[in-house]
Amino acid sequence: MTTRRDILLASAALPLMGGAAGMAGAAPAVVSGVRRPALDRLPQRIAYGSCAEGAVPQPIWEAVLAADPDLFIFLGDNIYGDTRDPAVLEAKYAQFAAQPGFRRLRDRVPVLAVWDDHDYGEDDAGAEYPMKVTSQRIFCDFWGEPADSPRRTRDGIYDSVEFSAGGRRLQVLLPDLRFNRTPIRMLDLGGKTYDDWAAELERAGRTVPGPYERNPDPQATMLGARQWQWLEAQLARPADLRILASSLQVVADFPGWEAWINYAEDHQRLLQTIRSTRADGLFCISGDTHYAEASCLRTNAPYPLWDFTSSGLTETWPVLPPNSRRVGEAWREPNFGLLQIDWSDAAAVRVTAQVRDVTGAVRIEQRLDTRELRVT
Ligand SMILES: [Fe+2]
Repeated sequence: MTTRRDILLASAALPLMGGAAGMAGAAPAVVSGVRRPALDRLPQRIAYGSCAEGAVPQPIWEAVLAADPDLFIFLGDNIYGDTRDPAVLEAKYAQFAAQPGFRRLRDRVPVLAVWDDHDYGEDDAGAEYPMKVTSQRIFCDFWGEPADSPRRTRDGIYDSVEFSAGGRRLQVLLPDLRFNRTPIRMLDLGGKTYDDWAAELERAGRTVPGPYERNPDPQATMLGARQWQWLEAQLARPADLRILASSLQVVADFPGWEAWINYAEDHQRLLQTIRSTRADGLFCISGDTHYAEASCLRTNAPYPLWDFTSSGLTETWPVLPPNSRRVGEAWREPNFGLLQIDWSDAAAVRVTAQVRDVTGAVRIEQRLDTRELRVT
């Protein structure tokens, strides 16, 4: 099936470096040499982004570095692996590691990372992807996970990172939306391929949605049972500010492409868990879409749930899907996110969430105050 990625870059010929087909298992691990963040300081400038094609120049890093972040969070599709061959996946990580802008970032800024479908290994893939355990090992090697990291051995690369200083705590939640995910539910395309179906709609002058739909089955899940137990325990921990760093959009309500909204049970369970654990001070950042937007869920939520989507670091998308929870305008050129966090007020944490373009210009901005993010 053809999906969003294929439409734009179907025939991209990738000049691969450092990998050789048939060398799987024999080659040394591909590592990025990234720095791990110090956990005894509270970050004040967190940059983030997603969707970086390694075979094209990545000029965005100039603007990222000019913003002087003290942490960068990779939200997935950090490379376009798209393979069932470990040697190809490793070669594409090596290609990314050779990007000069990434190398400068790596040398100056500590990083955290999650994966999405393309660096997990396959377009829109879930639990069924046969190379997931190997991909997990390659991901952990590349992103500098210690040998004893639980991310290497559990059912996915999910993690929680806590920064604390002066009696205050920032929790960064990094869920894995791939490893345990039930296959995504497709629209009935009448036996046609998505391309043919979409072209037919277009010829008829109709809007072309993505190929997916919402799955109301309570058994369908993105996180899986064990990761849910882990997330519930994390949200019950005390924190002044929480960032849910999700590879897919959490709040947007368009189910045509992948998002939390496609998994009705998980989407609802997240809202319920924030409420039941009284997880104050949480907002989301997300990637994947190839455009940037701010979304806010104000009804049937424990408090206004914000989601600041930044995508892509290199990628764009030809149309803007609907999203009734969008706040303001979307931004449809390459971009990164920047969170400026003010810890100076003992009564609240203030966050300025921005999306910036390749020149560093601010294209989306929203201010948050944790006094407005409290379960009532
Ligand atoms: Fe993706």
